[in-house]
Amino acid sequence: MADKMIRIPQRIQDVRPYKAGKPISELAREQKLDRIIKLASNENPLGPSPKALEAIRAQTANINRYVDPAAAELVETIADKYSIQPEHIVCGHGTDSLLADIIVAFSEPNEELLTCLGTFIGIYVSTNKQGRKLKTIPLNNYAFDLKKLLKAVTDQTRIIYLANPNNPTGSMFTSSEFESFMEQVPDDVLVLLDEAYEAYALNEPGYPVGVDYWYDNLLVTRTLSKAYGLGGLRIGYTVGPRYLIDALKKMRLPFEPHALAQVAAIAALSDDEFLVRTAEENRNSLLKMKTKFDELGIKQVKTSANFIMILMPSEEFAGCFYENCLKRGLIVRHVKPFGIPNGIRINSGTEDETTIALEIIEQVYGEMIGQKRYQQST
Ligand SMILES: Cc1ncc(COP(=O)(O)O)c(C=O)c1O
Repeated sequence: MADKMIRIPQRIQDVRPYKAGKPISELAREQKLDRIIKLASNENPLGPSPKALEAIRAQTANINRYVDPAAAELVETIADKYSIQPEHIVCGHGTDSLLADIIVAFSEPNEELLTCLGTFIGIYVSTNKQGRKLKTIPLNNYAFDLKKLLKAVTDQTRIIYLANPNNPTGSMFTSSEFESFMEQVPDDVLVLLDEAYEAYALNEPGYPVGVDYWYDNLLVTRTLSKAYGLGGLRIGYTVGPRYLIDALKKMRLPFEPHALAQVAAIAALSDDEFLVRTAEENRNSLLKMKTKFDELGIKQVKTSANFIMILMPSEEFAGCFYENCLKRGLIVRHVKPFGIPNGIRINSGTEDETTIALEIIEQVYGEMIGQKRYQQST
């Protein structure tokens, strides 16, 4: 029997899979709760863009047909919106799949991807899964340390991953910091700039819009999962110089992204009204959170995204806080696997969600902070 068994490669045996925010359905199965609020996955609380929903409905009758493998109409839409040549764009099945493809396309096994510890967990998982080495340096005051990243580059470094704004901290680096970094980074190191939360940061003074830059060693990834409300459809895109985009295109599945995702993305990208409402709802919710956290004396990191990271007194406190919120029907994210053991990330919600979430947080935090040994409530 044993000699017939397939050998699982060590790099796959070693993978610690990506664990997403707890789904509402899972918590509903575990606990008998009338109401569950999920502010754990940085989703858009307003739902999908209404224009995207309309486009999906109109397209469902055609799903017997394969999609245009080049996703030409979607590529044109992105090109027009951001004044980019279509040859510099490739669309994929969510940023997650684009990140995995980029790692494989532009590095060899055992070469190194360099980033900071305390960023998007998906990049750690992908790097390990593809058998590449992950090298991390600490964040500086919860923000990417671009100067130290430059110093950490070695002959083995093929890719540097930056997220701006960063997930889970919400911190942002500025145009001058980014430009100085790009001037100094070696030409043969690929800089991978993940702009999953760009739509929320656009109005921040000094925010460097990645697709407005032109470097031979820069790729920018974007997703429609966040501000455009299409997380469940899985769609994103990458922008960069043609020689890199041509190589990346070779990594795609033949009919990726799928038909409904393509039409939804085309419609969502033109739904300015939805984007304005999204930004406004986000601002209001985060302001309420900030005010309440200040009042409770909870430390927080300044955010430029659609979530805020609060800092608990210890890892143990954060773990119990997370569990106790769950028991009251609030799903937040304990970001220990991202590399911040005492961090809790909470994304913005609708007005009602925010009010109820803050009531739960106030109760849980208030109960726990007085205790010597933090307990899970029963
Ligand atoms: C920084 C960052 N990049 C990428 C992703 C994944 O995006 P997608 O849903 O397009 O795979 C996320 C999702 O949380 C993220 O926070």
